[in-house]
Amino acid sequence: MALLEIDNVTVRFGGLTAVDEVSLTVGAGEVCAVIGPNGAGKTTLFNAVSGNAAIGSGRILFQGEPIHGLLPHQISAKGVRRTFQNGGLFGDLTALENVLVGLHARVESGILGVLLASPSARRIETEATARARALLDLMEIGHVADQPAAQLSGGQQRIVEIVRALATEPPLLLLDEPAVGLAPHMREQLVSIIRRLAGQGIGILLIEHAIELVMSVADRVVVLNYGKKVADAPPAAVRADKNVLEAYLGHV
Ligand SMILES: Nc1ncnc2c1ncn2[C@@H]1O[C@H](COP(=O)(O)OP(=O)(O)O)[C@@H](O)[C@H]1O
Ligand SMILES: [Mg+2]
Repeated sequence: MALLEIDNVTVRFGGLTAVDEVSLTVGAGEVCAVIGPNGAGKTTLFNAVSGNAAIGSGRILFQGEPIHGLLPHQISAKGVRRTFQNGGLFGDLTALENVLVGLHARVESGILGVLLASPSARRIETEATARARALLDLMEIGHVADQPAAQLSGGQQRIVEIVRALATEPPLLLLDEPAVGLAPHMREQLVSIIRRLAGQGIGILLIEHAIELVMSVADRVVVLNYGKKVADAPPAAVRADKNVLEAYLGHV
């Protein structure tokens, strides 16, 4: 069974069909990249999976169960975590606190409330903080862990958001253009983190414009054009696909 199964999904905005009968699957430990020209429907497809856009028809299954129709926080609680193309940090909270928010979202608030009153809850809290700091260190932004997110550079904010999504090691991670604004060495760091997560069995759906990054990290590449899937193949095959060339050349 695929971890994520997108089955014949259509998303419309008024008269515009942003996602047009798209099907794809992501397996555990698989890195599936979604590429395509601006406006092709990539982010809308993510929004459909994360519950941020309603689907007009089709089905979305996570671990075999339908998730379309659930609210974003319900889908997140099931273990589908995402980053947003235009960020989604709490500017007043520190980088560390933003990551901790991501860790806590996993725990039902009622249970968390009970736990926080107990010594074991304080231990969990301490462990969560240590883990968040370690992840920020790993991504080379440990030195800004205690600064408000709003004061960080765009690239640093992006990394905090990625760390927040990664922190729970969710079964499925959706990354919407994670490399935008990252310096080259941070891109390499990102590639190695994505590979390591996939090696642990996490499924990754990745929207990315940086084509070399896609080619180096993806097991499979899905190409969207005007909302339709026009290719779904390993990177080397996609490079040579005439539909893909047309999708890009048509937009130059
Ligand atoms: N909330 C929305 N309301 C109306 N149209 C939208 C909305 N979100 C996206 N669109 C339109 O849907 C199409 C696909 O957009 P999007 O999914 O953001 O593309 P991509 O991420 O591939 O650049 C575009 O034509 C865009 O203008
Ligand atoms: Mg987009």
